[in-house]
Amino acid sequence: MRKNIVAGNWKMNNGLIQTETLISELKQQTKTSNAEVMIAPTFTNLWHAFQSTRQDDIEVVAQNMHFAENGAYTGEVSASMLKSIGIQTVILGHSERRAYFNETDESLAQKVDAALEHDMRIVFCFGEELSDRKSGNEEAVVESQIKKALFHLDASAYKNIVLAYEPVWAIGTGETASPEQAQDMHAFIRKTLESKYGHTIADDMTILYGGSVKPGNAKEIFSKPDVDGGLIGGAALKAEDFYAIVNAF
Ligand code: 13P
Repeated sequence: MRKNIVAGNWKMNNGLIQTETLISELKQQTKTSNAEVMIAPTFTNLWHAFQSTRQDDIEVVAQNMHFAENGAYTGEVSASMLKSIGIQTVILGHSERRAYFNETDESLAQKVDAALEHDMRIVFCFGEELSDRKSGNEEAVVESQIKKALFHLDASAYKNIVLAYEPVWAIGTGETASPEQAQDMHAFIRKTLESKYGHTIADDMTILYGGSVKPGNAKEIFSKPDVDGGLIGGAALKAEDFYAIVNAF
């Protein structure tokens, strides 16, 4: 069964005190939908966030990890380090990681493998740039990103994978893909999966949309049959807005 998920990607925001405050505000919100809730604070606050949400219906997830197990990779964090503090899920392939930190389809495939070796769940992000959409290449770009990072996997790996379609032109810009644009791409993503792994895996896959999702547009986007939730940036930093989105299902 496909799950609905709303995940808050906090990006490089919130020190320890703000993390404590936001988490206590999140706990005061009432969840009326069946969506799973995830938050992704920065590395320095993962342990604290994990500890303080243990009793709550909120999963704390990481924004990134390295593919190596350990060693001379100054500044990096491995899957086993995340697991050692209780983190089970990692976001991989965010467009900001691809754009500013030179992450490639090939290095992402290595990260995917490392996360799966540790039996972690992955929220795998991809999406086209504005120039790709303007030239009508959005489907080819998305298909290539998915194939290069994920199509080496066995079908059994997909129970640990959630996909997040985030068109780069809609991230932090206030410009959202229309519900129809999101639906069309999500249906295409499902068809792409089906071509390799068959109907059941494609149909069971949770596919999130990300890019300027707000309380005012979430309901319409989530009403589309192939949109199973959202990966939320800016609006995840306000507890009320985030739960308005969670409850948009
Ligand atoms: P915004 O919701 O701020 O556009 O960010 C989306 C995003 O990048 C989530 O990962």
